Amino acid sequence: MRFSPLVDRIGGEGAAAWEIHYRAVSDQRAGRDVIILSVGDPDFDTPAAITEATIAALKAGDTHYSDLLGLEELRAAIARRFQAKTGQPTTLDNVAVMAGAQCGLFASSLCLLAPGDEVIVPEPMYVTYEATLQAPGATIVPVPQRAENEFHLDAEDVARALTKRTRAIYFATPCNPTGAMMTRECLERIAQLAAANDLWVVSDEVYATLTFGKEHVSIAGLPGMADRAVTVGSLSKSHAMTGWRMGWIIGPKALIDHVHNLSMAMLYGLPTFLQRGAIVALEHDLAEVETMRATYQRRRDAAVARLNQVPGVKCHSPDAGMFMMLDVRGTGLRSGEFSRRLYEATGVSVLDATALGRSAEGHVRVSFVADDKSLEEACRRISGFVRGLPGAAA
Ligand SMILES: Cc1ncc(COP(=O)(O)O)c(C=O)c1O
Repeated sequence: MRFSPLVDRIGGEGAAAWEIHYRAVSDQRAGRDVIILSVGDPDFDTPAAITEATIAALKAGDTHYSDLLGLEELRAAIARRFQAKTGQPTTLDNVAVMAGAQCGLFASSLCLLAPGDEVIVPEPMYVTYEATLQAPGATIVPVPQRAENEFHLDAEDVARALTKRTRAIYFATPCNPTGAMMTRECLERIAQLAAANDLWVVSDEVYATLTFGKEHVSIAGLPGMADRAVTVGSLSKSHAMTGWRMGWIIGPKALIDHVHNLSMAMLYGLPTFLQRGAIVALEHDLAEVETMRATYQRRRDAAVARLNQVPGVKCHSPDAGMFMMLDVRGTGLRSGEFSRRLYEATGVSVLDATALGRSAEGHVRVSFVADDKSLEEACRRISGFVRGLPGAAA
């Protein structure tokens, strides 16, 4: 039987990078001693107040069709938070609730891009971007985020990548896999380039509240961006709600109207009882949320301090999020070989970051979604593995 050409565009090679991860998950299920540092699923429970509101809604029979774009109360809560942060006037007409940020990214891609369009994306980039942006027939134009620049984007690389076909710039700030956040200066330059070249800018901000001291800037709040900025976010990481699929897309009303039509054809709204929980998440400053953020920061500090003592590897300390890039070039191994041999020798799974972009060559991505003891043990095993490599410094 024949499939549409779409299946090739969403088929990508990203999958190979996950081989070690899937092995680790299957080994863990089989009872083997493994420590999984290859994914970004929070190891915390969703705060109880959120779960309780959802259970109450479910018991009360709140189980019918939702407004296609999400409950008005939820959209208003998302709009209020966004306006308070960015200063950008935002109402519920600018908000669509989506099944996670991923669904928001995909909806934006379908509504903004067409065959022949070019989309500039800083790399290394989040693994789903390839399929998401190629689905409507657009071509990704990667621009490097260089290790020697701590994986921060140089906006002049974006300027150099522009062509007559450029339609949009997509990026994540904070970035997965690097944990780097875009500076205000960089975003101002991108905003200028977008205005001068009539581009959409889609900013993926799923880690925006998990920052470690530096200010997170949303490009949507910069002058002149109201008509061309699209912001994607979710409760997945900030509130440990990955399985709830509660995300959103914020943008000009005209885009949200198109997303409404798309939702009619595809998603048809999200479960109302889940949205009731999301309202609690957004209308309260729940103590657990700050505790989770502070815990990631503590884990980052501990992992960076431990691994930076190991000759042959070097941490890029992230600004935010739950990942860091570990430079393994000093071990003489390429990233893929490092992650494979590390797993086979120690049971610690990390992600070969080259699957996320060429600029990540020589790096693996290490996540912090493990408790303090497991993370300490993982660092000890990584240290032992690296020190045991031929030619390793004592
Ligand atoms: C950069 C980035 N964007 C989007 C997502 C997807 O998030 P969600 O669970 O909200 O769909 C992830 C998840 O890991 C991510 O790292």
